[in-house]
Amino acid sequence: VLKGNSLPNLYLVGFMGTGKSSMGKRLAARFNLRFIDSDEEIEKSSGMSIKDIFAKFGEEKFREMERDFIENGHPKTGCVVSCGGGLVCRDGMPELVKSKGVSIVLFAEPEVIFKRVSLSKTRPLLNVENPMQRICELLDKRSKYYNRSGICVSSSGNPNDVEERLARIY
Ligand code: S3P
Repeated sequence: VLKGNSLPNLYLVGFMGTGKSSMGKRLAARFNLRFIDSDEEIEKSSGMSIKDIFAKFGEEKFREMERDFIENGHPKTGCVVSCGGGLVCRDGMPELVKSKGVSIVLFAEPEVIFKRVSLSKTRPLLNVENPMQRICELLDKRSKYYNRSGICVSSSGNPNDVEERLARIY
């Protein structure tokens, strides 16, 4: 019987506010896996906040840090990894993530995303005049990457139902 720490990693991918962290924590508890958040790991290893990394070094540098994290910055098994919303949105990244374990994409309507993220001040990309418009633009640009990052699961509705959907796929 596989113990939690020998199970393949589960990667939760998708836009900001689609529930990667909350679902990741539930699934980690359920399957006895370790929960890891790519943003938190990058903040720990760099000693800087995501906001400061964007402000001081720019988005491209942050994307390199995300790639390093996926390539060799985390354990190879036994983890649920909540991936920052833009992590797979570079050529080669969906394939890289899928090569590391089971990858599932969470999606939600722009309105749902807007409600979930509008309280947060920690997401530099949405710190603009019109966040709803920005969400739609980004979703549009990113859909081709999300679409090839794994099985897509809706995160709208009852969180218990979403958890069941994800658990069945994993
Ligand atoms: C980003 C999403 C954020 C974080 C950074 C950039 C993005 O992660 O990595 O602010 O480009 O979509 P969450 O999806 O966990 O909010």
